[in-house]
Parts: sequence; structure tokens; C-alpha cells
Amino acid sequence: MRVRPHLLDTPHSGIRRMADLAATLDDPIRLEGGDPNFTTPQHIIDGAAARSTAGSTGYAPGEGLPELREAIAGKLARVNGVTASPDQVCVTTGACGALFTSLTLAVEPGSDVLLPDPGWSNYAAQVHVLGARAVPYAVDASTGWRLDPAAVEAAITPATSALVLNSPGNPTGVVFDPDDLTAVAELAAGRGVAVISDEAYDEVVFGTEPFSVASRVQSDQLLTIYSFSKTYAMTGWRIGYAVGPADFVSELSLLQEPVVSSAATISMHGATVALQGPQDCVGEMVSAYAERCQKATALLDAEGIRYVEPGGSFFLMIDIRDSGLDSWAFATHLVEQHRVVVVPGLAFGQGGEGFVRVSFAAAPETILEGLARLAETLHDLKSRRRAAG
Ligand SMILES: Cc1ncc(COP(=O)(O)O)c(C=O)c1O
Repeated sequence: MRVRPHLLDTPHSGIRRMADLAATLDDPIRLEGGDPNFTTPQHIIDGAAARSTAGSTGYAPGEGLPELREAIAGKLARVNGVTASPDQVCVTTGACGALFTSLTLAVEPGSDVLLPDPGWSNYAAQVHVLGARAVPYAVDASTGWRLDPAAVEAAITPATSALVLNSPGNPTGVVFDPDDLTAVAELAAGRGVAVISDEAYDEVVFGTEPFSVASRVQSDQLLTIYSFSKTYAMTGWRIGYAVGPADFVSELSLLQEPVVSSAATISMHGATVALQGPQDCVGEMVSAYAERCQKATALLDAEGIRYVEPGGSFFLMIDIRDSGLDSWAFATHLVEQHRVVVVPGLAFGQGGEGFVRVSFAAAPETILEGLARLAETLHDLKSRRRAAG
């Protein structure tokens, strides 16, 4: 069957490419993924199973189960400082589903969508599928990946239909300054640009409180997106949600109808239990990620290797410029010679070149072994470069 030609050019994920390479190796050290090594807390699995066993296995409303939307409104107030009624919440098939549906609604084909560079590769793929143009705005490693309101302002033109924000960030691990986020959201919304704030890692922050741009900016141009995947180790349940003006959210749920009908009922039960149940599991997992981050950066410090200190999410960007190789060549060398799988920074845009992304979703001993091999490789390549003059 013929595929629409422009879809054949969809930029595919470098993360997936590295994972495919890993699948060909014996006993690889896998630091490329964002899938937690934790399983979903048992009370969530049990709660979802119990509700299904009791007979709740049918279709659900397109916007999500009422009790889950209610629980999400409570969570937004408790965690994010966001006041939203349940009719401002649409439950989706992961944050991925929320992003795609909201971009589909907000973005005209042929228009420009501003994306962080480096930024999560799925944004560019979704924008491409929609027939729009991905326009990068730079977040620079030398500033600690800071969000620069002036750079975003300069990038907005009459052709800009939407802007994607992402904090805590993938691949950078950056937590943007609340004032910068507020300034950017206000200026973009003020110019009629749809602001889509991807806060999938909202609760995975190290030493700070979660910050949502919607706690400060009230605008009918703002949509925030969240996920159960990372906070509750529920990646395979495919469950997330979008929060915004009730009329936009209602369109979003209508658009889900012909595509997925609704998020999966059993997953919505799990999500409801996750929000209504004890929250200790979240604190425990976030502390584990913070500890992995601290151990990883201590190892890199001891080895004299540069990186940008993460403030949250699962990721750390390591500076590999001393190797003399570009990020794809370095990552390929590391996997082929030392069986350590990381993601080249270039997979996330030009701004990621010179770095590789390492994930804290793996077990601590795996991370430390992988980083030890990465450090040895970097030192080795650096001394070979010196020797070659
Ligand atoms: C920045 C970011 N946004 C969204 C998602 C998608 O999350 P979900 O599993 O809820 O679709 C991911 C997953 O890795 C991510 O890193």
C-alpha cells in the first residue's frame, strides 16, 4: 500500500535507533531509555485489577472517567498549584497522545512550531506528520540549558502557530527558571501563539518543588500536559492528560473519539488508584533518581568529565567534545567497542551536538559501570588525539 510521501520523511527517534543497535549485542549496558527500572507500585496494579474484576472493562467517555478527572483536578491543586475544574482535564493515551492531539488542534499545516533545541525528538516527528515546520529555539549548554525569553521572542513570527515548552527537560535534565517560563508563556500567548507546556516529569525534580507554568499564567492559549508514566513508573499503561481551557479540552476529547475513542479503561482505573492512594512511592522513586544522579555526577567529577548538572527528569547530558568525535561517532564507538548504549546529543537537535544523553532509568550499578566505561573511552580517545598531535 502506498504511504503518503511526506510521512516517509518523518524524522525517527535516535533513541530507537540506539535501542535497535543494543538489541544486537550480548549483555549491553543500556543507558539510552526513559523507561524506569521500577515496576508500577503493587497497590496500583492490584487496584486496577480489582476494578476490572468487578466488571469495569467497557468503553469510557472520550474525556476520561469522571472520578479520574476529579482526582487529577485534586492533584493539580496539591502538586502543581494549578486551579482547574475536571472539565478542563482530558485523559489521554500518555503524554504522547495529549501532545499529538493538541498539536493537531492548534497547528495549521504549513505554519511554524517552535521547539526546544536540544529537545525531545518526538516533538519534531509530530510536527512533521502534521505538515507543519519545526523551528528550533536554542537552549544553550553554556548557560546550563537556560530558557532565554529574548531568544524565543526573536523566533516568533506571524507564521508561528505554537510553542512547545518542556521542563523538567528531556534530554537536558534542566528545570527552567519559573520567571523565564512565565515570561516566555506570557509573551507567546500574548502574540496569539498556542503554548503547549510538556510537564511529563513534573514531580521528578531534585531538591526543588514541582513548578507548572499554569500556576502563574492564566491564558486561553495555554495547555499543560502531564503523564503517569514517569511519576508512577507506568510507562506501559499509556496514560496521561492535558489541562487547559474547557472549550479546547472538549475539542481535544472529541478529536480522540475517532482515533482512540478514549484512553484505556483499565489504565484509567490504575491512574485513579495512583492519585487516590499513598504517595510515598513517588517520593521513594524520585529520591532514587536523585541519588543516582548524585552518584553519576560524583563519578564524572572524579574523572574530570564535564556535564550540565540536571535539576530533574531522568537525564544527564555529558560533554564528549574532548574525544574529537561527533556525538553519533562517539555513541557508536561506545556501543560497538564497550557495549554501553547512550543517545547522541545530535538526535535531539543541533544544540545537543558535543554531548551524549545518559538515563537514570537504569539500576545504579548499571549506570556506574556504564559511566566508568564511558570515562575510560573518553580519556582514551583524548590521549590518542593528543598523541596524533
Ligand atoms: C519530555 C517527554 N514528554 C512526553 C513523554 C511521553 O510520555 P508518555 O509515556 O506519557 O507518553 C516523554 C517520554 O519519554 C518525554 O520524555
